[in-house]
Amino acid sequence: MPMLDRLLLFGATGDLARRYLFPSLIHLWRDRLLPPGFQLVAAGRQGFDSDEAFRNWLQERLGREASGNAAAFAELMARTRYVAVDLQDEAGIADALAPFAHAPAVSYLSTPPDLFAPAARGLARAGLLDAPSRLVLEKPIGHDLGSARAINAVLRRALDETRVFRIDHYLGKAPVQNLMALRLGNTLLEAVWHRRWIESVDIVVAETAGVDGREGYYANYGALRDMVQNHVLQLLALIAMEPPAQLDADAIRDEKRKVLRALRPLQAADVGRYTVRGRYGDGVVAGRAVPGFRHHAPVETFVAVEAFIDNWRWSGVPFRLVTGKRLAERATEVLVCFRPVSHWLFERPDAARAAPNRMRIRLQPEEHIELGLMGSLSAPEWAALELQPMALDLQMPSPQRRIAYERLLVDALKGNQTLFVRDDEVEAAWSWIDSISSAWAAAATPVLPYPAGSWGPPEAQRFLPASIVDEIGGG
Ligand code: BG6
Repeated sequence: MPMLDRLLLFGATGDLARRYLFPSLIHLWRDRLLPPGFQLVAAGRQGFDSDEAFRNWLQERLGREASGNAAAFAELMARTRYVAVDLQDEAGIADALAPFAHAPAVSYLSTPPDLFAPAARGLARAGLLDAPSRLVLEKPIGHDLGSARAINAVLRRALDETRVFRIDHYLGKAPVQNLMALRLGNTLLEAVWHRRWIESVDIVVAETAGVDGREGYYANYGALRDMVQNHVLQLLALIAMEPPAQLDADAIRDEKRKVLRALRPLQAADVGRYTVRGRYGDGVVAGRAVPGFRHHAPVETFVAVEAFIDNWRWSGVPFRLVTGKRLAERATEVLVCFRPVSHWLFERPDAARAAPNRMRIRLQPEEHIELGLMGSLSAPEWAALELQPMALDLQMPSPQRRIAYERLLVDALKGNQTLFVRDDEVEAAWSWIDSISSAWAAAATPVLPYPAGSWGPPEAQRFLPASIVDEIGGG
């Protein structure tokens, strides 16, 4: 695929653009990672009298991000034009963008999903989706399986799937890519990555941030749709997929899709046992008093699910998925617990159960890999052979990490789809998520309160991984 050098950014006045997309573009330009002829068309609903008025407005909004990189910001802005567009208006899109339709471009829809279909039709009408142009879509792709399918159907009519780039920014994070490297690059892990040796897997994405400023969106989505459908399931897919035969985009995505399709759907009779929904109330996070999430919609800010992958490799192994806002700590981690040895020869037979081998992979905020083993490293020679838990600890100084979007923007310009989500993956993920939301509705599953700054509702403690329970002092 050719490298393209024009980006049309829709939603350029929105929150995501301010927080991540413009800062990413500024860094990429500063570090000469964009093509030398790079051109940016920023598009939003808001009108500005001139490109200069937009630049001044943006500079103020970006604050330190612009002033701290003043030269790169000025150079990037010299290559930026602003266009006001209403994405609901297909004919209007074609007119507004006619001046930019002469050369291929990457169009990036950083907009709510209800605009994807009209925007794709308008861009197609303007000729902006003709090959080799590409389309990037921010998550979420729809609200459920039906709406995701409808969006994918419109996209299929507008352009080929090989030119559609669905973002899940977790895939742009280097530590998430390292999950694949660890899994697929080590004989030691390859040999034991199986139900025969693994007892359970925990995936936790805990945030201290709240819903702040996104109440409307959140009330409609909740943590299940906002976090589990995409980020958490992508982590699960990378951990549980079969090794692809090559590292190309479709080989990896084929395997991820198979795992997602093997997730056992939940029924109303299961959700009481296998899930917990929670919502934060007033509390204290990092020493600061914060208000609870108040909204009349009964939506959750915390989810815990025990999921099962019904396939040969994982049959019967629980994958406990936990994510929540306003929790005690910001931590994204995966904990793989191995089965106890088959015959225990030592003192204290309970020790094998109490401290099984486990691998803890901390992805955020710092990177850290810990392998829990048993040994008698510092025991005196004459003592009975009594084992104690020890850890092999791989704590490397993390490099200064780039914003995940930097990698994804460059990959979209290059046409590399490896870190983007394919249509059938999104649909498989929604299909499982829908089974949970329908089961919650049928079972009238309550949304349980938890104080901001805690680890979620007390009813969810049994879903928390041992690594976190150890840290909070036995749960
Ligand atoms: C976004 C969600 O996709 O991911 C947010 O919409 C969430 O609700 C964010 O806060 C978390 O991303 P990160 O990179 O801060 O872990």
